[in-house]
Amino acid sequence: MTDIFDIEGRSILVAGAGGIGAGIAAELARRGARLTIADVDETAVERVREALPGEGHAACILNITEEDSCASAVATAVSNGGRLDGVLNAVGILRIAPALELPIDDFTASLNINVTGALLLARQAGKIMIDQGGGRIVTIASVSSKVANPNYAAYATSKAALSQLTRVLAVEWAKHQVAVNAIGPAVVPTPMSNPFMTDPEYRAYQMSHIPMGRMATVEDLFGTALLLLSSAGAFITGQTFYIDGGRTLV
Ligand SMILES: NC(=O)c1ccc[n+]([C@@H]2O[C@H](COP(=O)([O-])OP(=O)(O)OC[C@H]3O[C@@H](n4cnc5c(N)ncnc54)[C@H](O)[C@@H]3O)[C@@H](O)[C@H]2O)c1
Repeated sequence: MTDIFDIEGRSILVAGAGGIGAGIAAELARRGARLTIADVDETAVERVREALPGEGHAACILNITEEDSCASAVATAVSNGGRLDGVLNAVGILRIAPALELPIDDFTASLNINVTGALLLARQAGKIMIDQGGGRIVTIASVSSKVANPNYAAYATSKAALSQLTRVLAVEWAKHQVAVNAIGPAVVPTPMSNPFMTDPEYRAYQMSHIPMGRMATVEDLFGTALLLLSSAGAFITGQTFYIDGGRTLV
């Protein structure tokens, strides 16, 4: 029987070697995908690549805010995998401050990395996928695409824009069978969230807003990532999937 979630041999570029990128990459590699790991942090890409199960994985440096760097990461993935079946973009930054005190540099950096960077990487990958007749682009958005946490002006604005960018790219590239989607997790313990979750007030706020009463885990994201990167997801495009224990419902 054919497994519609099979991703064995698929060439996938994983951008972002942090907590979520590394976790999903390990699961994709366990299922036989051929990965290229890319991040601005040179040590992280090598560490993550070395820990991957299986053979044939590559690593490269990526500054997602520079289009040449995005093109080069896409080229590395194509040369490593022979084509580019999918991109999982788990690059991002989180800046938290009350709007009255938020440094404008934090706001513009959030838009630059979380939105402009997502566009630059997606369109470099999109070009290749259009030429080869199809592909999948999955970006990690957030529950902040939808909910308005206090002090999240920079992050939430960027993630809402990212979800809308996902819809526009999906419509533009649908005729080429390039599907573009996003995953919106609730808070996941990673190097991004851990420093904030040690603040009891912040933690209590977050936990009291998740109806299932716990944080997300990286493992909670595996199913959706697989769905969107395998043939099971062939007709799904433009969506943000909230993996959030009900966080966006309340
Ligand atoms: N951790 C959470 O609670 C959570 C919840 C919802 C959504 N997300 C989103 O998931 C994604 C991954 O987050 P994470 O928790 O793994 O964070 P993380 O900080 O562990 O990883 C983020 C990675 O992005 C890389 N990066 C930053 N700027 C870059 C740039 N200019 N070019 C290339 N790489 C760059 C960092 O080096 C880091 O490895 C982000 O988009 C984040 O907003 C995280």
